[in-house]
Amino acid sequence: MKAKGRLNAICPYFTMFPLEFPLGVLRDAEPGQLVVDPFCGRGTTNYAARTLALPSIGVDSSPVAVALSQAKLANSTPHRIVAAARRILRDVPEPSEIPNSEFWRWAFYGDVLQVLCRLREGLLANCGSDSRRALRAILLGALHGPRRKSRPSHFSNQSQRTYAPKPRYAVGYWKKHSLAPEPVDVLEIVRERAERYYSDETPASGKVIHGDSRKNVFARAAGGRKAAWIITSPPYYGLRTYLPDQWLRRWFLGGPSVVEYSAEGQILHSSPEAFASDLRQVWRNVGKISAPGARLVVRFGGINDRKADPLSIIQMSLEGSGFEIQTITPAGSASSGQRQALHFSRTNGEAREEHDIWAVSTG
Ligand SMILES: C[S@@+](CC[C@H](N)C(=O)[O-])C[C@H]1O[C@@H](n2cnc3c(N)ncnc32)[C@H](O)[C@@H]1O
Repeated sequence: MKAKGRLNAICPYFTMFPLEFPLGVLRDAEPGQLVVDPFCGRGTTNYAARTLALPSIGVDSSPVAVALSQAKLANSTPHRIVAAARRILRDVPEPSEIPNSEFWRWAFYGDVLQVLCRLREGLLANCGSDSRRALRAILLGALHGPRRKSRPSHFSNQSQRTYAPKPRYAVGYWKKHSLAPEPVDVLEIVRERAERYYSDETPASGKVIHGDSRKNVFARAAGGRKAAWIITSPPYYGLRTYLPDQWLRRWFLGGPSVVEYSAEGQILHSSPEAFASDLRQVWRNVGKISAPGARLVVRFGGINDRKADPLSIIQMSLEGSGFEIQTITPAGSASSGQRQALHFSRTNGEAREEHDIWAVSTG
């Protein structure tokens, strides 16, 4: 079945792999087989499983990743999503707080920020339905991005879509270019996006959990089922900025209204050995809920400005993990196409060659 693929683009996430990767792996999947991604990011693996009508589990320690992946498994309709937004706006006529530093005054038109704060509050109080989860991801996807002359598609002043603007730089840029924030119709943007992403989706089944994959978080989600496929891409060694680069979306999910330099719940980057040892723990945990012969397929790369070789890190991590490597194939360079490290160009190092590692559970 060919993926429609629209919902996968609900919100960018800066180290996502292309949908074709998990879809290609799952070509040989049989009906009903369980798919797991222990570093699910924006839920590309979960979405691939959905398009093939397979159940899936995703785990990530970043709240932004979890919100996006949950939306990939949400069963809703454009009508229900817009109704959920209207309901919140009725229930929360005034937000209890609106951030008011110079950054916020330049980033959003006053009335737009007020509506966003009301929606934020309503969703923080209750995000228990699939329609609310879909709405939350739509709002995250529209929160910041480029301005368009006709039919605005984002709420913010001119920004990148993938990374949150860094306040000092962004304010300087907006002032220099005389870019004042513009009034946009939040509900209309929600409606358009809901139509685009939720008009025609395959029903989903599965669960996405906010947790640390180094801990035993899988049994609860699997509920006794065994995984046949584990498809994932761990964080790139040396890349530590997942959380601060998403600070504005984290704010929408209840975080502070200032950039927070945290690495909570993230795999250790202190040395290649520590990183490999953390990864090994994750493979062992996934192994506990895997069927004998289950396939583990990992796409992995690294940044060139670190001394460590990504391939030897991943090989080290699989030693004694309960998975045996079968093949290693180059997946192309991260800078040459639709690869997960595409956005590394803003770092000093060019992305290295990525590899796909296929392993099988020996358990
Ligand atoms: C390379 S990204 C995955 C991207 C994903 N393949 C996609 O297409 O969106 C790696 C993810 O691992 C998550 N992560 C890092 N340490 C983790 C941990 N200890 N437990 C769970 N997730 C973790 C990060 O938050 C990040 O979302």
